[in-house]
Amino acid sequence: MSPHQVEPHVFVILGATGDLTRRKLLPALYHLRDQGILEARNTLIVGAALQELGEEGFRLGAFEGLQQAGGRNETELRAWCEECLFYQALHEGGPQDYEALARYIERLERIHKMPENRVFYLAVPPDRVPAAMERLAQAGLLKSHGWVRVVFEKPFGHDFPSARRLNTTLHQYIKESQIYRIDHYLGKETVQNLLAFRFANPIFESLWNRASIENIQITVAEDLGVEHRGAYYQQSGAFRDMVQNHLTQLMTVVGMEVPVSFDAAAIQSEKLKVLHSIAPITQQDVVFGQYTSWQVGAQTILGYREEQGVPRDSNTETYVALKAEIHNWRWKGVPFYLRTGKRLPRKLTQIAVTFREAPTQVFRSLDPGSIPPNKLLITLQPKEAFSLCFSVKSPGRPFQLSDHALQFDYGKAFGQLPEAYETLLRDVMIGDQTLFVSEEFTETAWRLYDPLLAGEKTVHLYTAGCWGPSEADALLEKNKHRWALGW
Ligand code: BG6
Repeated sequence: MSPHQVEPHVFVILGATGDLTRRKLLPALYHLRDQGILEARNTLIVGAALQELGEEGFRLGAFEGLQQAGGRNETELRAWCEECLFYQALHEGGPQDYEALARYIERLERIHKMPENRVFYLAVPPDRVPAAMERLAQAGLLKSHGWVRVVFEKPFGHDFPSARRLNTTLHQYIKESQIYRIDHYLGKETVQNLLAFRFANPIFESLWNRASIENIQITVAEDLGVEHRGAYYQQSGAFRDMVQNHLTQLMTVVGMEVPVSFDAAAIQSEKLKVLHSIAPITQQDVVFGQYTSWQVGAQTILGYREEQGVPRDSNTETYVALKAEIHNWRWKGVPFYLRTGKRLPRKLTQIAVTFREAPTQVFRSLDPGSIPPNKLLITLQPKEAFSLCFSVKSPGRPFQLSDHALQFDYGKAFGQLPEAYETLLRDVMIGDQTLFVSEEFTETAWRLYDPLLAGEKTVHLYTAGCWGPSEADALLEKNKHRWALGW
């Protein structure tokens, strides 16, 4: 069997009645089926949750959810739910309930003549992970005659000691090669394409260093606030929710050396080297912000402290900007600026690579305006695109330069792109860990950031709908840089 084919297995979702299953997992699984990657012959999906729900109830819920998401052929969808979806209630979630789950899975495997290959997707709150692992192990589900893989969602701890404890707990039951920690940013097509862009195109790779690049900025901006997740967010804040994971992953993909091969171990090892090379980040290199309310016409956008589940005197940050320096041969002297925030003007995920200015300004006497530096903008959201920005002469006289871009739009070239979860679930099924977070990565990232998260922090307020506190602009101005935005 080719390494890219899905071997027959049972895909068990713990927490199958939750939001993640409905919004992300089931649609992704159904798309995989649409692409012919997943069929009843190779994948049976078993939902398990505390909720007392029969098989029919689970199938109906899945059917309705997928149908609402639109564009599906009703007959095919119904047939898929009937053939591929199963459910086992975990009642109290006690040892005997997991025993029953084990018997249920074994029965399915027998009836469908499946080998004992199993994926367990833990779509449960983080505080339930250790107990769930213990029960799965007690019920004998983590040992089989086939393979067993376990998928976890973030957060992987909230600081270094808790991440270490969690990893130690997981390793009591399974090996690192069986663990798939999801950071859904790694499943986004553009992130993978960034690897192709860098390592398949020598023209860019030869410029990818401190000789040609002035600074690199990674922006993950969201227009939404914390929505109904105030209570969770209050514990986490933007740093733990976004910077420690998503933005750090992007930074290491941008900054890594060329791996010796395109396999999980080689890529993960290069990303890890980048993390190890980051110089300690001081409080002066970080700006924390929190959004306040905004009145737009008759509408009021609530400030963070007015959101449900948030204390009125909360000091939790909804915005972070920071400067990191990678102290290695390639990047010494090139600042990496990271920023993320809620309630910013629009949803935008973008990596902006600003190149150094020309050594002499030949056109200064003709066009006294400043010539913008060349930039490469890699946009992940709202659409996936690359733009290479450069100066051209505007027609006629007087001699003037203006900034234009060569653009590559992923959607236009390839049509609809797969959702991050589709890519990641398929990779779990084929056993490819390249796009998952390793134990060492998550622990090293916590070790880097823990000093910034310990103790009191100064949080600067910004009005919802603007690009964050002015202190974040000042952070760049110290180095005569500005936040890049465009195309
Ligand atoms: C999640 C965070 O990991 O990523 C959310 O918990 C955030 O707070 C989300 O909104 C952003 O993901 P995306 O794919 O919409 O950029």
